[in-house]
Amino acid sequence: MRKVNDYYAKKARKNKFPARSVYKLEEAQQKYKFIRKRDSVLDLGCYPGSWSLYASEIVGPKGIVVGVDLQQADCSPRPGGAPIHWLCQDITAPELVPMVRRFRPAFRVLISDLAPRTSGSRWVDAQRSLDLVNTTLSLAELLLLNKGHYICKVFQGEDFPDFVKKMRSQFGMVKVIKPKSSRVESREVFVLGMEYRKPAGSSR
Ligand SMILES: C[S@@+](CC[C@H](N)C(=O)[O-])C[C@H]1O[C@@H](n2cnc3c(N)ncnc32)[C@H](O)[C@@H]1O
Repeated sequence: MRKVNDYYAKKARKNKFPARSVYKLEEAQQKYKFIRKRDSVLDLGCYPGSWSLYASEIVGPKGIVVGVDLQQADCSPRPGGAPIHWLCQDITAPELVPMVRRFRPAFRVLISDLAPRTSGSRWVDAQRSLDLVNTTLSLAELLLLNKGHYICKVFQGEDFPDFVKKMRSQFGMVKVIKPKSSRVESREVFVLGMEYRKPAGSSR
């Protein structure tokens, strides 16, 4: 992960978050309040752990957070925060769903800050990012509760409008968010979907 020494990086260090990306989630949460006390939260692409730590503080001790990443995260929740279970796993692996379901059969909120390894080509990176978010939407079908909420990071490419269209067909409300802490030169945006309409026939 690229180390930068800007305002948000310093703020993250001061507040003991391992990554500045926490402020992207915080901005969306402060506006839309999609994570609530006692919620169950699944964090895909969680390493080094800022989003999970932040979600754990919001949901509190009666909630739960499960974080998944290719890299092993290991920070401890803050006092008063929900327990966090870290899984070192590829989100595309078939074993993921049963592993996650050991903690909860389904979750109230799915958050994803997944980022593919950058290739140097904007087109390739946007395509890889879209593959990852499409995987998270398939996982939502299995692991997100009906009326649950979802937020993901996407690198905008030519297929981005189709992705937003797909989200609009699956959620009651969809917002595209460019947080202040996201660098202007970055093509990343966050897409929030609230009130998931679980496809007919899916369990829960
Ligand atoms: C920007 S970082 C996440 C930062 C995190 N939200 C935080 O605040 O600490 C993106 C993460 O996505 C993970 N990732 C990328 N592809 C993945 C995959 N197929 N399965 C699991 N994790 C993946 C990377 O390992 C990386 O740690």
